[in-house]
Amino acid sequence: MSEKRTGLLIVFEGTDGTGKSTQLQLLAQALRDKGWPVLITYEPTDGVYGKQIRELYAHRDTVSREEELNLFLADRREHVEQLLTPALKSGKIVLCDRYYLSTVAYQGAAGLDPEIILARNGFAPVPDLALLFHAPIHTGVKRITQGRGEELNDFEKEDYLQQVATMFAQINLPFIRRIDAARSIEAIHCDVLNLVQPLLEKLQ
Ligand code: ADP
Ligand code: TYD
Repeated sequence: MSEKRTGLLIVFEGTDGTGKSTQLQLLAQALRDKGWPVLITYEPTDGVYGKQIRELYAHRDTVSREEELNLFLADRREHVEQLLTPALKSGKIVLCDRYYLSTVAYQGAAGLDPEIILARNGFAPVPDLALLFHAPIHTGVKRITQGRGEELNDFEKEDYLQQVATMFAQINLPFIRRIDAARSIEAIHCDVLNLVQPLLEKLQ
């Protein structure tokens, strides 16, 4: 991104049920307690394309993989223009629940080329930090079905998620930090704080 950024973009990535949303909320609270300006957001968004994506959850096979990718990219483009870029310019610490590594891993696992997916995200601001949560797939699935009391949607089938996890494991970018998410909420939060701290020092 060519525009000057004064904020931070921290993204939460990983397979479903690894505790991304839980850790995002805990980090937001910890940062706000210290007086930092925090903006929480997520993808898919609640915008027009995000709504179309959510409609796909129950019947994914009604669109081609390419059409599905285009929806995620259109949603992200809108998110970047309307929310992420202005927030970063105004100095916010933006915490985003899923971002383009999810597209690389999920649409990559669905059969599209991960390198091409990454290249097509060239318009999106590069994160300062991507926290990549990993845990055995059955752990995440159990948390979703038991903890959240939800059914699995078409994006959450176990064998597909296993392929998604393999994709995540193969992505190698300098801003990624991997977190063992099979531990307690407190232990993971402690890791997250330690990873974020050096970025705050640069902001001051
Ligand atoms: P994600 O956003 O990655 O899908 P959530 O944060 O929504 O995951 O967590 C899924 C479920 O697992 C929730 O019910 C949450 O309370 C629970 N949970 C989150 N982190 C942990 C953890 N470290 N250990 C056990 N349960 C957890
Ligand atoms: P999720 O974070 O689980 O949102 P919700 O709380 O609405 O269920 O994300 C929705 C699903 O979308 C998730 O299974 C991963 C998938 N996804 C992609 O396939 N590609 C993407 O680019 C993104 C952002 C999400």
